[in-house]
Amino acid sequence: MTDRNALPSGPTGDELKTCCAAAYSSDVVALLLGDSYHPGGTALTRRLADGLDLGEDRRMLDVASGRGTTALLLADTYGVQVDGVDYSPANTALAQGAAQAAGLADRAEFTTGDAEHLPYPDGVFDAVVCECALCTFPDKAQAAAEFTRVLKPGGRLGITDVTATPDRLPTELTGLAARIACIADARPLTEYTEILAAAGLRTVRTERHDHAMTRMINQIEARLNLLRMTAAAKLTQAGVDLDAAPAVLAAARAAVADGTLGYALLIAQKAS
Ligand SMILES: C[S@@+](CC[C@H](N)C(=O)[O-])C[C@H]1O[C@@H](n2cnc3c(N)ncnc32)[C@H](O)[C@@H]1O
Repeated sequence: MTDRNALPSGPTGDELKTCCAAAYSSDVVALLLGDSYHPGGTALTRRLADGLDLGEDRRMLDVASGRGTTALLLADTYGVQVDGVDYSPANTALAQGAAQAAGLADRAEFTTGDAEHLPYPDGVFDAVVCECALCTFPDKAQAAAEFTRVLKPGGRLGITDVTATPDRLPTELTGLAARIACIADARPLTEYTEILAAAGLRTVRTERHDHAMTRMINQIEARLNLLRMTAAAKLTQAGVDLDAAPAVLAAARAAVADGTLGYALLIAQKAS
C-alpha cells in the first residue's frame, strides 16, 4: 500500500484538517449541498443505520458530524443517545443549535475534536458512523484505530464514503480543492477494508452507490448555475472558482462513469 499520508511538500495534516473544516463551515457549501453533506443524503444514512443494530438503549458516535444531520436523524428515528464530533467549531455550534431546535438536546451532544484523536474513553460506543469524511482524513489508519478504540467489543462501524482509484484521477480532480471536495485522497473500497482490518475491524457488508455520486454532481451543477446568476460574488469570496467549475464537474461525472470515482457503504465489526 502506498503511504499517501506522507506530505513531503504539501500542507501538513493539521493544515489540511483546518482547511477542510473551514470549507465545510461555509454557508456556500450548505447552499450547494443542502443539509446532508454526502452523496445519497438522509436516505443513504437510513440504509446505513439499518445495518447497525440500533435501539433506544444504544450509545453511538458520529465522527465528522458536520451540522448534525446524520446524528439528529439517528437520535430521532432510532432513539439512540448520540455524540457528534467535528473539527469545525462553527459546525459543532450549529449542530448543537439544531439539536435544541429539534427538541433532541437530551439525546444528542456535539463536541469539537479530531477524528484522529477522539475525545472519548475506550469502549463506550455500541456503534460509530462516519459519512463522507474518512476520505479527507490525512492519517486514515490512525482514525480507524480510534474508531476501534472507542467501540465496545462487538460494536459496529458504519461508513459511507467516496471511493477513487487515485492513479486514474484526471488532473482536474487532484490538488487541494479536490482533496477538500472529498475526491483527491479517496481510496478504492478494497483499501478502506484493508485500513479497517489493520485496525481490528472486519468488514461484514459493502455496497456500491455510485449513482448517488452522479446525482450529487448534477445537483451541485444546477445549484451553481443558479447561484452564478444571483450570488456570484459570494461564491468567489468563498473560494469557488466559477471559471474552472464546469470542467471540474464534467471530469467528475466522467470519472464516475468510467468507474474511477464512486460512493460506497461499508459496515464493519469489532471482535466480541
Ligand atoms: C463532507 S463533510 C461531511 C459531514 C457529515 N458527515 C455529513 O455527511 O453530512 C466533512 C466533515 O468532516 C469534518 N472534518 C474534517 N476533518 C476532520 C477531522 N480530522 N476530525 C473531525 N472532523 C473532521 C469537516 O469539518 C466536515 O464537517
